[in-house]
Amino acid sequence: MRVLFVCLGNICRSPTAEGVLRKKLTAAGLASHVSVDSAGTSDWHVGKPVDARTRQAAQRRGYDLAQLRGRQVMAEDFNRFEFIFAMDQSNLQYLRSIQPTTGLAQLDLLLRRYQLPISEVPDPYYSGEEGFEQVLDLLESACDGLVAELKEAV
Ligand code: 4NP
Repeated sequence: MRVLFVCLGNICRSPTAEGVLRKKLTAAGLASHVSVDSAGTSDWHVGKPVDARTRQAAQRRGYDLAQLRGRQVMAEDFNRFEFIFAMDQSNLQYLRSIQPTTGLAQLDLLLRRYQLPISEVPDPYYSGEEGFEQVLDLLESACDGLVAELKEAV
């Protein structure tokens, strides 16, 4: 099973989701059954490390994002992943615009699928420190739902 998280820059929200899900999968004994990746709709940060504020906030909760590098999502991803989760509506719209008709992936807003009180992960790039904490809170809750679903599926 393969899961891809997508945001705008691939340096804040989607790499955080990647790190959070990976750790929760390990804790659930599912790490060898599910592969996790992230990508951006833009090419602005291709090859770049995760945003320093994102890395620090994640590190404080035990998620190590140091190895991750930005990449741009591509149409072929729809045949390489069973699940593609967008962080917000704008990401989802872009993904729909490149989605091939024969794609394998199920595409959804992550927070909507796991019934969080809000449906979009707010972009923290221009926010203060609390924005990065909110991203972590939302993604930890959503990934609990996702791990439960994957546990049934593998
Ligand atoms: P992300 O956040 O989509 O969660 O990675 C952003 C990162 C960079 C920019 C915007 C959002 N930017 O404008 O460069």
